[in-house]
Amino acid sequence: MADIILGIESSCDDTSAAVIRDGVLLSNVIASQQVHKAYGGVVPELASRAHEQNIVPVVAEALSQAGISAAELTAVAFTRGPGLLGSLLVGTSFAKALSLSLDIPMVMVNHLQGHILANFIRQPDVPVAEPSFPYLCLLVSGGNSQIVKVDSPLDYEILGQTIDDAVGEAFDKCSKMLGLGYPGGPVIDRLARTGDPGRFTFAKPHIPGLDYSFSGVKTSLLYFVRDELAKDPTFLENNKEDLCASFQKTLVDILMDKLVKAARQTGIREVTIGGGVSANSGLRERIVAEGRRRGWKTYLPPFKFTTDNAAMIAVAGWFRYRAGECAPLDIAPVSRLADY
Ligand code: KG4
Repeated sequence: MADIILGIESSCDDTSAAVIRDGVLLSNVIASQQVHKAYGGVVPELASRAHEQNIVPVVAEALSQAGISAAELTAVAFTRGPGLLGSLLVGTSFAKALSLSLDIPMVMVNHLQGHILANFIRQPDVPVAEPSFPYLCLLVSGGNSQIVKVDSPLDYEILGQTIDDAVGEAFDKCSKMLGLGYPGGPVIDRLARTGDPGRFTFAKPHIPGLDYSFSGVKTSLLYFVRDELAKDPTFLENNKEDLCASFQKTLVDILMDKLVKAARQTGIREVTIGGGVSANSGLRERIVAEGRRRGWKTYLPPFKFTTDNAAMIAVAGWFRYRAGECAPLDIAPVSRLADY
């Protein structure tokens, strides 16, 4: 009998549900919450309320697009964390209710593990290149920046991570402070395309080992712009493309330096990226170019699976389900990775 898994993702500001049959994606529905735009960042209380409104229609739509009835589901996989607690509670509670009413097992998924396994989302009629184990994953999102060694779908080791801001946070905060818009990553990425990445230089951190830091480079950009604006009030308006291109290049340089170091230290040549920032065109181009130069095999997830989605949760859940890892009904969501 086929394994039909419903995945539910509600860790931040996207309510998403997906259905996979024996690992093949049948549907992936995402309701992005527009309510946060006015605030320039995600407002947790508004996010949980929007999840409450969205979860039932999003799951119904995912089942309908997949042509699957709830009674046919084998298991329900949900994001347990890390993320916003109120948001996670909505997805977790929904999964519990479904598990109880349909008498099917529940599988908890670490959101980051979902991003790490995004390259394993198989779509009907789309050839997919899956990395071989062990591989390195540069996991870059709004809340995390990590280099992860992935030994199997269920076993992984964090080799390095940010000691302060995540790289997505650096994009978002700088964009907000400069009045460029939210979320900052896509805005800076777009402006950077027509800018000169070599025009400005910003301070790079010197952190030992494979850890990252992004708060200094963020401050470096903001202080530089403040000083220039004091001399010329039109500075930002006239230089935004070059500023974005130079800032983006600095972030990509920082990310790549440590990834190259990790590949050298571990001897691993299979390299992937995941998380919202893996949609960044500068990062995608660099990782491919660097891979060619160093003899890596690089795997980039399709754009639609870089940001939060339930397809990756369903796939990660399927791996766990097959390993017999089901969650008890009294399971509680966790907001921090450290509590996972
Ligand atoms: O993985 P994600 O959807 O949510 C979590 O943080 O879990 O990542 C969101 C982050 C935001 O910081 C957003 O600005 C960033 O991904 N992002 C990008 C791009 N698209 C999204 N950053 C840089 N370039 C992009 N094209």
